[in-house]
Amino acid sequence: MSIDSCPPLFGPAFDADPYPAYDWLRRNAPVTRVPLPGCEAWLVTRYEDAVAALTHPSLAKDPAAGSPEWRAANLGLPLDHRPGLARHMLNADGGDHARLRRLVSGAFTPRRIAGLRARALEVTDALLDRLDGPEADLVSGLAYPLPITIICDLLGVPEEDRATFHRHASVIDSAAASDVEEITRATDALEGFLADLVELKRSRPGNDMLTDLVRRSNQGEIDKNELTSTAFLLLVAGHETTVALIGNGLLALLRHPGQAAALRADPKRLPDFIDEMLRYDGPVRNATWRFPTEPVVIGGQEMLPGEPILVSLLAANRDPAAFADPDAFAPGRIGEPHLAFGRGPHYCIGAALAKVEGEAAIGRVLERFPDLALAVDPATLTWWPSAIMRGLFALPVRLHG
Ligand code: HEM
Repeated sequence: MSIDSCPPLFGPAFDADPYPAYDWLRRNAPVTRVPLPGCEAWLVTRYEDAVAALTHPSLAKDPAAGSPEWRAANLGLPLDHRPGLARHMLNADGGDHARLRRLVSGAFTPRRIAGLRARALEVTDALLDRLDGPEADLVSGLAYPLPITIICDLLGVPEEDRATFHRHASVIDSAAASDVEEITRATDALEGFLADLVELKRSRPGNDMLTDLVRRSNQGEIDKNELTSTAFLLLVAGHETTVALIGNGLLALLRHPGQAAALRADPKRLPDFIDEMLRYDGPVRNATWRFPTEPVVIGGQEMLPGEPILVSLLAANRDPAAFADPDAFAPGRIGEPHLAFGRGPHYCIGAALAKVEGEAAIGRVLERFPDLALAVDPATLTWWPSAIMRGLFALPVRLHG
């Protein structure tokens, strides 16, 4: 069937509810070419095909493997292709990928992450203490500041520099991404900021991830650009995603009051709820770009070297072939594991941390505000117009009955 019959794949209606379009694609054109600014891309929507693409040994992540058309349309963008920001594991394959990932994986072990639980609860409580009116926006009041505080702790951003760090990050994070000049300015500033921070860690080492990376760079395990790029990736990948987990997750609960009551009655079920929030309306719409290094067939479609591929994690996570009654919000469901954190070699390194933060934020909100309710009609909520992410600009709630 022609893609022209598909519900719109862009614009506010799609951003508000992309699932009807994904349903159409899974049924009628599960691996198809879609038009994007400046180039076309393959879009993969079925669960089985998504797993095949995410784990395929001949799909590269290095942007240099992209076709000339894709590179012409994308390499000018400020975020993705500067040596000081782009030489990170998510843009690397094979041995370089393994090396860059190994250098930080020690900071994400279950033991280290479990040690952050108390800190996540402490930050959450401090943020919730500041919400004193009858109504509040839980995105700006909680979902946004919690992950950035934890990332700053992990990286070792000094307290006095955090306001600057927040300012640059929020411009880049404001997925509106429409003002390329503004984003370029913020990216310049953030690149300079990260380079200065690296110098600071050289002269005044701390007990943090950046100091550890500086030490590794002195031993020749990572170069200067890879070092700042890794810091940048951890900031971006570890921040916006978790904002969306907390925002989308709370919205799912507010729209399913029976489930919220069940969770309040049995808080031990929180991990199951977080897992279902990630499947039901996850933060990452599409996994990042992939490019065949040789002809590859997925879902019966042949993709040629360099052709850009997007794997729709949201569509795959609602595939009825993998999840019974996929549009139901059903914590504790049995079935395939969801793909919200990806699959294969690039599987999210921060998954455990994201869950700790999500559990702290969502668990505490439920506990502290037993009468929590949406303060607006859900149809009026606005979503980031991003090709990669799915998150809310704001989540206005009534804190008390
Ligand atoms: C990779 C999702 C939180 C760091 C990924 C990928 C996904 C993902 C889908 C794979 C992308 C691809 O294959 O194209 C999420 C979600 C999160 C989250 C849904 C929150 C709910 C975090 C956090 C951190 C983090 C808290 C770190 C502080 C990373 C890194 C990668 C990654 C470094 C690249 C891994 C690699 O290339 O080997 N994430 N992420 N993420 N994530 Fe996360």
